[in-house]
Amino acid sequence: MLTPLLGEGLLTSHGDSWRAQREYTNPMFQRRRVEQFGGAIQRQAAQLVADWTSRDEKQPIRADHDLTGLTLQVVVTAILGGELGDIGEGFGRAVDAVNAAVSHGDPRDTPDTDVVRADFASFVTARQTIDRIVRLLIRARRFVGTDDSGLPDLLGVLLEHRTPAGEALSDRELRDQVMTMVMAGHETTAKALTWSLYLLSQHPSIAADVRIEVNRVCGDSPPTVAQLPELAMTRAVINEAMRLYPPIWVISRRAVSDDQLSDFDVPADSLVCVSPWLIHREADLWPDPTEFKPRRFVDIESPDPFTFLPFGGGPRLCIGRGFALMEAQLVLATLCRDVDFELWPGHEVLPEALVTLKPAEGMPMRVRRP
Ligand code: HEM
Repeated sequence: MLTPLLGEGLLTSHGDSWRAQREYTNPMFQRRRVEQFGGAIQRQAAQLVADWTSRDEKQPIRADHDLTGLTLQVVVTAILGGELGDIGEGFGRAVDAVNAAVSHGDPRDTPDTDVVRADFASFVTARQTIDRIVRLLIRARRFVGTDDSGLPDLLGVLLEHRTPAGEALSDRELRDQVMTMVMAGHETTAKALTWSLYLLSQHPSIAADVRIEVNRVCGDSPPTVAQLPELAMTRAVINEAMRLYPPIWVISRRAVSDDQLSDFDVPADSLVCVSPWLIHREADLWPDPTEFKPRRFVDIESPDPFTFLPFGGGPRLCIGRGFALMEAQLVLATLCRDVDFELWPGHEVLPEALVTLKPAEGMPMRVRRP
């Protein structure tokens, strides 16, 4: 389903090709490299606060939409080493369009009607726009070279990679990898933040606990990466939000041969689905499974990896999880300290399970300075 968009990058490849890609993409996510983007993330969050609090309070802010814009900008900065500037708006719209298209299934599989043809055409146009921008940015980076004042950004790692035969990655390989990281790395984090804000809006005393924690640890200064280990409640809220509303609610595999899973026969070529949504709400594993109780994550230092699996598990565990958790914690700490937020009166929130788990009608909110 994702291959028409992502090509043969890390998420959509298999076997030896996947193994080789995982090996050369792993250094992109080394802790020190990822942490150098903390300041840029915090600035984006502060900018969002300024934007939200300057708006007319009679109009709701679109929390899910704006958080998606923020996480897109963050991932693009981390991967390509710069902001999208004026092309950001067009890029963002094109990403929205392809997200909507892949969310509703593989455009090639749908019946041949005029409506579907029009949808497919807009998918193709949006994909061409993203492709052109990504290729342009890669070409510009090849020309300018890597800024050697710090560790190379994520694209720098890919540009420096050489195969055992001494070959660099082709433009096509670079494009597929960049596209994969951009697409896998923003919508998911935006949803984790959106559901966190929603749950906090329904539990004001927990939102107050987070603010007390952030004020105690950070004072009046912007939260920093070095302070994140001390922001235990902030981290617990994000984990509990991903337990109740895992951004990736189902993970699937195709069986390569006949197999047996406990009492079930799994014939070759079956589709096997593992659902974090179901596992995270299993009463035998999680007491009070449907209740929002972030403290459970303060009390358990590291949950069983196959009881809590927002980032998947096994060899294909999310490669960007450290990046995502750092980003979500910095953004949530900044938002909780600097704004009060309330779900827009009368708005009903229902989860909708597309590629990610999203609020069906968005997340309109009222925000104010405390
Ligand atoms: C809260 C945010 C995130 C969530 C919930 C999430 C979730 C997941 C899950 C469940 C998988 C496993 C899929 C499978 O097994 O089929 C995965 C894989 C992956 N994620 Fe994430 N992700 C997040 C953030 C990110 C970020 C920030 C990036 C990159 C910048 C990223 C890049 C990837 C890639 C490339 C894979 C494929 C890894 C492989 O197959 O080797 N993700 N993610």
